[in-house]
Parts: sequence; C-alpha cells; structure tokens
Amino acid sequence: MFSLIFIFKKHVVMEQTDSLLKIKVIPNAPLLVEGKVELTLADGTVKVVDKPHLCRCGASKNKPFCDGAHAKIGFKD
Ligand code: FES
Repeated sequence: MFSLIFIFKKHVVMEQTDSLLKIKVIPNAPLLVEGKVELTLADGTVKVVDKPHLCRCGASKNKPFCDGAHAKIGFKD
C-alpha cells in the first residue's frame, strides 16, 4: 500500500494512490495511519513514514506527529 498525505495549514488532506488508505481514530488520542505513507509537510518537506500517529489534539511539539502530549493535556473526544 502507498498513499499520500498532505498537511496544509493544519488541515490533513489525504490522497489515495493505489489501494485503500486506512486511518484509525484512537479515542482521546492521535490518528493512526495504517501502512506506509508519503507525508508532504506545509514547508514542502517530504517524508515517507510507516504507520504514523498524527496529532489531532494540537499540543504536539512535533507536528504533524503525536508526541504523547495529548495525555498530558487531558485531550478528550
Ligand atoms: S494527539 Fe498526541 S500529541 Fe496530539
């Protein structure tokens, strides 16, 4: 599986290329992308990442990735 995910101005835009992209919402925690993806960040940097956890609480110091800060701030759905 190979998919593209673009992070643009804090919005996640996903583009499927050749198979079904699966994303799991973890309760009170990040989005888990299942499989390998190419991430294009807002500054144009491209990263290929396997099974990234993407922050949805806004508190990560390593956006767009989760750094565990959701637990510290008590993020709830
Ligand atoms: S969801 Fe984990 S730091 Fe934001």
